[in-house]
Amino acid sequence: MYNLGDCPARDALYFTTHTDTAMDYSIESLSLDKLQSDCLLVGIYENQQLSPAATAIDGLCDGLISKLIARGDIKGKTAETLLINNLPIDNIQRLIVVGFGEHGKLTRKQFRKAMAATGKVLKDSKVKSATAALLDIDLAHADAQWLARQIVEVVGDGLYQYTSTKQCDDTVALQALSIHCTEANKALAEAGLQQGIAIAHGMALTKQLADLPGNICTPTYLAEQALVLAGQHENLSCDILEESDMAALGMGSFLSVSRGSRQPAKLICLEYKGSDADSKPIVIVGKGLTFDAGGISLKPGAGMDEMKYDMCGGASVLGILRAATMLNLKLNIVGLIPSSENLPDGDANKPGDIVTSMAGKTIEILNTDAEGRLILCDTLTYAAKYNPDVVIDMATLTGACIVALGRVPSGLFGNDDKLCNDLLNASETACDLLWRMPIWDEYAEQLKSNFADLANIGGPDGGSITAAVFLSKFTEKYRWAHLDIAGTAWRTGANKGATGRPVALLSQYLIDRATA
Ligand code: BES
Ligand code: MN
Ligand code: ZN
Repeated sequence: MYNLGDCPARDALYFTTHTDTAMDYSIESLSLDKLQSDCLLVGIYENQQLSPAATAIDGLCDGLISKLIARGDIKGKTAETLLINNLPIDNIQRLIVVGFGEHGKLTRKQFRKAMAATGKVLKDSKVKSATAALLDIDLAHADAQWLARQIVEVVGDGLYQYTSTKQCDDTVALQALSIHCTEANKALAEAGLQQGIAIAHGMALTKQLADLPGNICTPTYLAEQALVLAGQHENLSCDILEESDMAALGMGSFLSVSRGSRQPAKLICLEYKGSDADSKPIVIVGKGLTFDAGGISLKPGAGMDEMKYDMCGGASVLGILRAATMLNLKLNIVGLIPSSENLPDGDANKPGDIVTSMAGKTIEILNTDAEGRLILCDTLTYAAKYNPDVVIDMATLTGACIVALGRVPSGLFGNDDKLCNDLLNASETACDLLWRMPIWDEYAEQLKSNFADLANIGGPDGGSITAAVFLSKFTEKYRWAHLDIAGTAWRTGANKGATGRPVALLSQYLIDRATA
């Protein structure tokens, strides 16, 4: 077992995210003619329609916004923005006018798009503190709480800067964001603000860890970060199972993967106690492969660097627990992160090798690159010891999921319709999309082996499904859902970087469960 004293310099990187150090979020209820602001954000629609806040500012500024619209400087299309650097009033220094499209037609996704554009304007400006007067935007099925939360979450997300291993000369000026509200919607705004802050911090932690390279973010490093997180919250504790502990538990499948690496594997076990001892926990599991080279079934070289992101499920467990603890959710939550590398080595798994899982099932490893299911199956067996209410795992499990769904929704699989529907509802609210896929018996044929109880691959057809079906053979004792986040956890290409998904989705699911 680890203790905090054993991990030198562990927290230097952890505390460097922008949302962690610099941003101060608050609620502002003074009226627009009295409040002091470095920059006010107000909304307009197409066809010269101003929001109530925009109308008020227009009145205080001799029709400035109306004039700019008449001149054609801004039309009000969704996510259009106009920064005005000087105003004829003393209490507000600057204004950002944000377009929300045709009045009455705004969707939640479009609202987020407009906030992302606004966040970008703020990031690129010299504005030090901003006040968002945007709770008056007309959006069906969205109250002040949802709006406040999304403003914080989306702007916070946009301000993220990776600085751990790179010099950064243009630091963001923005240090404070307040949400303008009225006495009537103050309570909702306050609740949304707190949710937004917690989720923004959770996502920042997830992105920070995910963006780190594999030579820094090893299984040991992830375990240290979990211990640091647990040290910050009274109700959160952390135990690290070492390879010897896992051997004693019979985790032959998990340990076969880490045998090919010089970095010792860790099974990170976090427990958050926010409810009575007899309330069954929600167990969340995240794949924590800190680098996946494929093993002896080596991956091609192009784009292999992105396999540092194969620990995004595990980083999401930490981000979700961070959000849950900041919100003091009245739930018991367990977070489990199996963490290892997958590398080729003289002692690595070979195609044809047969290992025995903790559940007693033997597995023929026909492709050593299908390692995620090998570390997850033993962790899912171990999860049963917590007598879980539900178990939800998140894994960058298959390239096939990207072929099937692209990079828009995460794939959802599960053995319980209620759990799957709850997750789909949470995904709608959080705008962190999911699409359900089948795990029918017919697919299990593809996992038959002549030499073991299961093969670890199911051939080229339906690859994300056969991976989920493999996992389902280890989750029969409880209600379970699996999220394949291979296409959603990070962006590829010029804008490469972690997205922080599905932290918002799972945080929403937990908020829903805590308030049910
Ligand atoms: N971590 C990968 C899945 C992955 C690949 C995620 C590309 C995102 C982008 C996983 O361990 C893997 O290698 N899966 C194999 C499975 C195959 C061997 C059955 C894959 O998807 O190719
Ligand atoms: Mn792999
Ligand atoms: Zn992998």
